[in-house]
Amino acid sequence: MPTVFAPGITIQPFDFQSRTRLVFGPGKIDELGPIAMALGLKRALMVSDPGIVAAGHTARGRNSLEQFGITVTLFDGVAENPTTDHVEAGLTVARDFKPDLIVGLGGGSSMDCAKGINFLYSCGGKMQDYWGEAKATGPLLPMIAVPTTAGTGSETQSYALIADAKTHVKMACGDKRAAFRVAILDPELTVTQPPRVTALTGIDALAHAIETYVTKRRSAISLAFSREAWRHLAPNFSRVLEEPQNLPARAEMQLGACLAGLAIENSMLGGAHALANPLTAEYEIVHGEAIALMLPHIIRHNGRQVGDWYRELLHSNGELSTLATTDHAADALADFISAISHRAGLAGTLTECGVSRESLPRLAAAATKQWTGKFNPIELTQRDFQQLYEAAF
Ligand SMILES: [Fe+2]
Repeated sequence: MPTVFAPGITIQPFDFQSRTRLVFGPGKIDELGPIAMALGLKRALMVSDPGIVAAGHTARGRNSLEQFGITVTLFDGVAENPTTDHVEAGLTVARDFKPDLIVGLGGGSSMDCAKGINFLYSCGGKMQDYWGEAKATGPLLPMIAVPTTAGTGSETQSYALIADAKTHVKMACGDKRAAFRVAILDPELTVTQPPRVTALTGIDALAHAIETYVTKRRSAISLAFSREAWRHLAPNFSRVLEEPQNLPARAEMQLGACLAGLAIENSMLGGAHALANPLTAEYEIVHGEAIALMLPHIIRHNGRQVGDWYRELLHSNGELSTLATTDHAADALADFISAISHRAGLAGTLTECGVSRESLPRLAAAATKQWTGKFNPIELTQRDFQQLYEAAF
């Protein structure tokens, strides 16, 4: 129950602890070695993906570690939407190498895979054992995150999203001990993102700022992170789409995505993610595109009850505050998301993505099982989910 401190002021109880040291700035990847050495660590397993290796970022991080006397081995078998198979492959490398540090260097997939490997290497069992909250059975190895995208905010969350390789169900596996010890945010690393990756990760980060702002778990702390994330992300998404080499805009996006990750850690997510996950599981629509498809519809739906919260969020950004002055702030926000998704080249309808109407009852049933939907400000029934999918045709 909210605690009432004074008439008109209600502050939800919260328990906030910053678990991840944040090191931000251009060129900061070169501090990976000194930071690991200061933690007294000697053997680093780097978890990365082939695209990041090709961009040269993995080698730069490796050089920094090796210059400071740290022995490194690389697992670069991560792919988009990592599955239990990717985690198992990384676990085999970890068991041979016996690291005392895991470095997740890449996008959300590399960072989540690093967490998954850590769960299994440190505590045994299989990934499914860690589905849910606080399932680790002992301490985990220290980890350092070096994100190369501005999207998931995995660097500031204690959750790993790993898909079951057989069922394709996305499992959110969370434990406070799985939070990164340090996250190095170097915006120079995000400049090499291909345009589509910039689009997919940017819309996801924006969705995180918006969804966290209205969840049932929203608190004074999470709202501060959501608002600040929105302030950094909203005006800069179109800038990085149009000017990929714009380092100040890239820096704003990276910081915004990280702050949105902190918002998720403190308030969870909502209906857009519950709607998106079944689209990824059944139709392999990538996460950012699935989010872009569904976010405007859930904003309109929630806006019937929490329109003033969306208005507040719009007000918090000077560049976009004129949107808050319309009668229907939720509709203005939904239109803004649709327009920016279109500009980013993302699909606007489920038809474009090959989704069949016959699958809607099945998708809606799957959406009701998504844990994240429980935190949406309005209860969502299977019928609601189906109507929201229908609206996206
Ligand atoms: Fe997301």
